[in-house]
Amino acid sequence: MSTDDKELSGPDLAAGVVAGDVKDGAALAGHAHGKPVLLVRRGAELFAIGATCSHYGGPLAEGLVVDDTVRCPWHHACFSLRTGKALRAPALNPVPCFGVEQREGKVFVVGERPAGAAPSPVTAPPSVVIVGAGAAGNAAAETLRREGYTGRVTLIGAEPSVPYDRPNLSKDYLAGHAPEEWIPLRPAEYYAENGIELLQGVAVDRLDPAAKQVTLANGTTLGYGALLLATGADPVRLTMRGSDLPHVFYLRTLADSRAIIARCAGAKRAAVVGASFIGLEAAAALRARGVAVTVVAPETVPLGRVLGDEIGEAVRRLHEAHGVAFRLGAKLTSIDASEITLHGGERIPADLVVLGIGVRPVTALAAASGMAIDRGVVVDEYLRTSAPDVFAAGDIARWPDARTGERVRVEHWVVAQRQGRVAALNILGRRRPFEAVPFFWSAHYDVTVSYVGHAESWDRVDVSGSASAGDCAVAFRRGGTTLAVATIGRDRASLEAEAAMERGDEARLRGLVPHG
Ligand SMILES: Cc1cc2nc3c(=O)[nH]c(=O)nc-3n(C[C@H](O)[C@H](O)[C@H](O)COP(=O)(O)OP(=O)(O)OC[C@H]3O[C@@H](n4cnc5c(N)ncnc54)[C@H](O)[C@@H]3O)c2cc1C
Ligand code: FES
Repeated sequence: MSTDDKELSGPDLAAGVVAGDVKDGAALAGHAHGKPVLLVRRGAELFAIGATCSHYGGPLAEGLVVDDTVRCPWHHACFSLRTGKALRAPALNPVPCFGVEQREGKVFVVGERPAGAAPSPVTAPPSVVIVGAGAAGNAAAETLRREGYTGRVTLIGAEPSVPYDRPNLSKDYLAGHAPEEWIPLRPAEYYAENGIELLQGVAVDRLDPAAKQVTLANGTTLGYGALLLATGADPVRLTMRGSDLPHVFYLRTLADSRAIIARCAGAKRAAVVGASFIGLEAAAALRARGVAVTVVAPETVPLGRVLGDEIGEAVRRLHEAHGVAFRLGAKLTSIDASEITLHGGERIPADLVVLGIGVRPVTALAAASGMAIDRGVVVDEYLRTSAPDVFAAGDIARWPDARTGERVRVEHWVVAQRQGRVAALNILGRRRPFEAVPFFWSAHYDVTVSYVGHAESWDRVDVSGSASAGDCAVAFRRGGTTLAVATIGRDRASLEAEAAMERGDEARLRGLVPHG
C-alpha cells in the first residue's frame, strides 16, 4: 500500500521550532524536506523520523512513544526513533530518519540520514529451510537476511504466489477497495535480490528431522542446517449435503478471495455460515459489493466468546445497520444450489455461500515426523520444537505465554510475523525468548476492533465507554489480573494497555479500564 501521498501539514520543522515546544515523550508532527516528520524529545535527546507508518500509512503522531521507539496507533508496528527501523511487525520497511540540530533556542530538522551500516556477516547454520511462505515464513526469511545471514535461505510455499497480505483478503480486497498491487508483501524481485530462494506452488510432503531434510511433493529432497515450520492453518471443512457445490467457498487464500469476488458478479444473496471474524468481515465486504447477506451461526452473540457481549452485540448491530440479517442460535443442515436449510426447516435463499466456521493448525508434517503436538506444534519460549534445530512459528505454534505461563496458540497476523522474526534470530543463535503481548485487529465497515493480550476465559469484564457509540475499552480479567483489553475508537488506550502488559503494570491497566 502506498504511504507517500499524504498532504503535508503542521509546522515546517526544517525552518525550526521553539525548543520548549518539543515536550519530553510527546510527538510533534510537522514536515521537513517535503516529507511528514515526527519530532520527539526523550530527555536531552531529540529525534526526527518519518511520521507515516510504512504499513498502511497510520499517523505515528497519534501513536505512543515508549523509550526510544514510537508505536503506530493502527496495528501496533514499532519504529526506532534513532534509526527509523521497523522494529516490530506488521511494518516491514523503515521510515526515513533525519538529523536534528539545536541553535539559539530552536530545533531544526536537517537532512535525511543514510541507512546504517550493513550488519556483520553471520555464517551459521549452513542453510535454513522455511516451510510455509505466509506471515511467519516471510518475516523469518527477511530477518535472516537483515541480520547479515549469508547461508542459503529457501522459503517454500504451497500457494502459487509471493507472500501476501492475508488479512486484506476479507477486508478492502474482497470489498473491491484495494487494488491488486497492495496485496503482495514484496515485489517478486525482492526475493532474488535478497538471496531468498522462493519456491512457489510447492508443498513439502515429508520432514525427516534425523536426516535433517525435507522432501517436496515433486520428490526433490533438500537438506537443512535449521528448519522453520510455518504452515499456518486451514479452514475447518463441512461435509454435509451440498457443501461441495461450486457456489460454496472458504476464505483462507488469495485464490479463495478471488473466487468469491468472481462469484459476486452474478450473485444477489449470500449466506455466511459462522459469525467468526472472517465470516463477519466477509459479510461487510459482500455488502460493499451490493450483495444481500444473512449470517447463520450457533452462538447467540457474534464474537462474544472472544470479545464479550458488549462488543459482540455492538458488532451485530453495526452489521444490521448495514443490512446484514442474522440467524443466531441456528445450525445449517444442508446447502442447495439456490438456498440453505437450517435445523427446524427454515430455508434461506443463497446463490453464494461462505463458510467461516474456524480453522485448524496445519500440523500434519510435524506430527508425522514425531514432534510433540498439543492442539498445535509445541514450542518452548525460543520457539524450538521437540526436534533438534526445528523451530515453529505462527498459527501452528503453541508457546508458553510470558505473562501467564500457560501454553497458548493464536491466529493473529502480527503475532505470526513477530514469531517468524524471533525464530529467525534464534536460528542465528541469539537465544531471544518470544515475549510479545499478542495483538490483533478486525475491521467491519469503518469500525476497527483492536485487541491486546490473550484471554481464553475470565471471571470479570469491565467496560469503559460504549461499544455502540464506537468508543470503548473492555478489560477481560481473571483473579485480579487483566488478561486482555479490546478497544473501539481508542487506539491510544490499546497501545497503552499493550505497554502496561509488557511492564506488568496492573495499576495502569486498572487506570485505563477501571473496575465497573
Ligand atoms: C481472510 C483472513 C483475514 C484475516 N484477518 C486478520 C486480521 O485482521 N488480523 C489478524 O491479526 N489476523 C488476521 N488473520 C489471521 C492471519 O492471517 C494469520 O494468523 C496469519 O496469516 C498466520 O500466519 P502463518 O505464517 O502462521 O500462516 P499463513 O499466513 O497461513 O501461511 C502459511 C503458509 O504455509 C503454506 N503451507 C502449508 N503447508 C505447507 C507445506 N506442507 N508446504 C509448503 N507450504 C505449506 C500455506 O499454503 C500458507 O501459504 C486473517 C486470516 C484470514 C484467512
Ligand atoms: S498502519 Fe501502522 S501498523 Fe498498520
